[in-house]
Amino acid sequence: MTDYKKWTLAKHPCGVPSEDCYTLEIFTPDAPKDGQVLIKTHYFSLDPGMRGRLSGDSYAAGLKIGDTIESAGIGEIIASGSERFAVGDMVMGGLGWTEAVLHPDRGLQKLDPALFDDKVAMTATIGVLGVPGLTAWFGLQDLGQPQSGETLLISSAAGPVGATCGQIGKTLGLNVVGMAGGADKCTYLKDLGFDAVIDYKAADNLAKAIATTCPDGVDIYFDNVGGKMLDAAILNMKPRGRIVVSGQVSEYNREIPIGMRQTTRFITHRLRMEGLVVYDYAKQFPEAQAAMAALIRDGKLAYREDISEGIKDAPSEYAALFAGANFGRRLIKTI
Ligand SMILES: NC(=O)c1ccc[n+]([C@@H]2O[C@H](COP(=O)([O-])OP(=O)(O)OC[C@H]3O[C@@H](n4cnc5c(N)ncnc54)[C@H](OP(=O)(O)O)[C@@H]3O)[C@@H](O)[C@H]2O)c1
Repeated sequence: MTDYKKWTLAKHPCGVPSEDCYTLEIFTPDAPKDGQVLIKTHYFSLDPGMRGRLSGDSYAAGLKIGDTIESAGIGEIIASGSERFAVGDMVMGGLGWTEAVLHPDRGLQKLDPALFDDKVAMTATIGVLGVPGLTAWFGLQDLGQPQSGETLLISSAAGPVGATCGQIGKTLGLNVVGMAGGADKCTYLKDLGFDAVIDYKAADNLAKAIATTCPDGVDIYFDNVGGKMLDAAILNMKPRGRIVVSGQVSEYNREIPIGMRQTTRFITHRLRMEGLVVYDYAKQFPEAQAAMAALIRDGKLAYREDISEGIKDAPSEYAALFAGANFGRRLIKTI
């Protein structure tokens, strides 16, 4: 059998996870028993939302010391003890930060290569058609309750969740405003069809910048960031505005969160704020994925991947997400 590498948790991080929070282990997987498959990973994802699981502060169980770092991945079956999968099948599932994994034959989705091409790559299943895209789809439509003509404001708008959310918003007839860090990301959003953009890193006073860009106020704020950015958005909400809490990336590495201060606006403006866990919509995933794949093929939904090669850089690339270094869905290519 061949040797492979995987990243495991060495210690629970405080702040932005540093390299010494992980161990790079070399291992030789066992041959699969009945009901198991051996998967060679091709790509795995780096997700800001995983941060809570590294320190055990998440809706899902925290990782224990020695656990393989979890993430979505796609890979190829290289040995099978299952009637469900044959050698050569491509699958998607929670493979983790690893070059290979011995996996039960459950919790994996077989991917038909014939369904993918240069418009919809197989990696889209762990990106725009996976958790990030689905978070945008359900968060905006179920919690945001959008009405054509309304104004949608999005933070971390150039990330996979934010960029998908904005483009879905355009298909629903919304006026879409994205906030992102830096001119390149803002130009990208304009190219995607966003109506207006705010480079929050260049804004001295973000609440004022939002007021200038959205003079009539914001109907829906899709929040990926939290903290000060959330407060700046709240000050610009219209009466009966909806705030969708997708993520709080600016808070994940803080021991004491900045939190939300402008709560009086919830009374004066009758605001509503609600968070989501995308897996609550699991039964509706196939329908949403089919709809989003159709939007991609119609040229109405573009997606961007930011792929780095080799498992070794996963910890540094993960930390870089919190400094805005990714431009699109951050994936690690392992083959
Ligand atoms: N609720 C759910 O079920 C669910 C599922 C998936 C993801 N999420 C959440 O959705 C959000 C977006 O996820 P994603 O995968 O699309 O990743 P992402 O938006 O690409 O996240 C990384 C980006 O966040 C921005 N960022 C990082 N630190 C920041 C800070 N302190 N202040 C402002 N912006 C900061 C940076 O963009 P800039 O360069 O623009 O600053 C960075 O490139 C995350 O909060 C994630 O946890 C939620």
